[in-house]
Amino acid sequence: MQQDLRDYLISYKTKIEKEIAERLGKLEIPENLKESMLYSMQAGGKRIRPILLIASFEAYGTEVEKAISSAVALEMIHTYSLIHDDLPAMDDDDYRRGQLTNHKKFGEATAILAGDALLTNSFEQIAADSMLSSVEKAELITKLAQVSGPLGMVAGQILDMEAEKRSVSLEELERIHELKTGELLRFAVYAGAYLARATEEQLKHLVEFAHYLGLIFQVQDDILDITGTEEKLGKPVGSDESNEKSTYPKLLGLDGAMKQKEIYVENAKQALSKANAANSTLELLVDYFSNRDH
Ligand code: IPE
Ligand code: IPE
Ligand code: MG
Ligand code: MG
Ligand code: MG
Repeated sequence: MQQDLRDYLISYKTKIEKEIAERLGKLEIPENLKESMLYSMQAGGKRIRPILLIASFEAYGTEVEKAISSAVALEMIHTYSLIHDDLPAMDDDDYRRGQLTNHKKFGEATAILAGDALLTNSFEQIAADSMLSSVEKAELITKLAQVSGPLGMVAGQILDMEAEKRSVSLEELERIHELKTGELLRFAVYAGAYLARATEEQLKHLVEFAHYLGLIFQVQDDILDITGTEEKLGKPVGSDESNEKSTYPKLLGLDGAMKQKEIYVENAKQALSKANAANSTLELLVDYFSNRDH
């Protein structure tokens, strides 16, 4: 990885984590709930969604402070989705981000409620941001609700569950991934550029960029479930196979999945160049998403 990308990732990961600690730390809520929320929020994920949102902002604007509440809100929704994804009724996983899953540590009921709390409070993070205009708040909150809810991630999760134990076409698999993973990434790309006042034309190409970026991210997630190590990933490997999940390697073989990823990488870079962001950090993030080992 290039040194400047490494520095970028570290500096914004640190920034986001400081914001998370401050914002959640000051909530006056029942102690056990707060502890459970902070447990998962501070477990140290890669923070790629908030970083992507900030990189998208920086491709078109300065004064990144304006993007922080959206970045934190997005990470809260992502974390809630993981807490629920790991529950026994869903993927039934015991480890996440290198530590016990939320329900293993706090029990299922508290884990469910911590997820609910992160989801709902995320919207308040944006609503309470005095740097945003009312129009910006309404736009961001609407978009965030769309990508997270029954038109977005939640739809992807149910389709993903329904695709267990049966084979799906590449088209169907792309659709599932687009919803389950792609939509939150799409919000990251959109929200950053929107806040930085990118043009309609640029936003249109960015939507296409985000589409391919989401697919790259998920192919690599599927590949890592086979080739990765639990130590690096902080979550068990082989979970897709034991749950008989529909994945890229299952559909195309491991080599086929890697080839498919290269096609997505090409398409993502082309879209980025049409969005006039070819030499931004966004381009470096395409390779990072594609080659990440955790
Ligand atoms: C994992 O997301 C879940 C998927 C959507 C595939 P990440 O790989 O971004 O997980 P963290 O946030 O780094 O733990
Ligand atoms: C999780 O997908 C996607 C969401 C939580 C929206 P996976 O089930 O593939 O994620 P991992 O592999 O558990 O991280
Ligand atoms: Mg899952
Ligand atoms: Mg899972
Ligand atoms: Mg996975």
